[in-house]
Amino acid sequence: MAKVSMSVNGKPVTGEVEGRTLLVQFLREGLGLTGTHVGCDTSQCGACVVHVDGRAVKACAIFAAEAEGAEVTTIEGMADADGSLSTIQQAFQDHHGLQCGFCTPGMVMSAAALLAENPKPSEAEVRDYLEGNLCRCTGYHNIVKAIMAASGQDVAIAAE
Ligand code: FES
Ligand code: FES
Repeated sequence: MAKVSMSVNGKPVTGEVEGRTLLVQFLREGLGLTGTHVGCDTSQCGACVVHVDGRAVKACAIFAAEAEGAEVTTIEGMADADGSLSTIQQAFQDHHGLQCGFCTPGMVMSAAALLAENPKPSEAEVRDYLEGNLCRCTGYHNIVKAIMAASGQDVAIAAE
């Protein structure tokens, strides 16, 4: 076991991890942040996406020890300071960008990373960026619409 320290949602945390402990295990089992989901064991679904030093990362694809000293943000850290939904979260709600919701934390985290680097993405760019996020329910159209809306663009240009 080794000690690991990082910032999670703006708060310093420490824990004891094995070398093989994945970041997603540390977040869920070590810190109780179960909003980060595990939807596969092949690093394909994207339900586990978090931000590590501002970049979207699949938390099942890195070890907790690799996040030593990093600034990690999970879905629990995405609400606005007053606890209300962030613009992206509200857009998912407004545009019905979820059904069962299992993929939604990863979708929101990926969307936030996309809009941070590309504030006005085209529909094609949104779809391309979400390549690593699988949704079994929605058919993606309303997710794309939600992200377009969160970027302040006309959702009518998103495909029906
Ligand atoms: S749990 Fe599926 S990509 Fe991480
Ligand atoms: S809303 Fe069910 S998997 Fe995406």
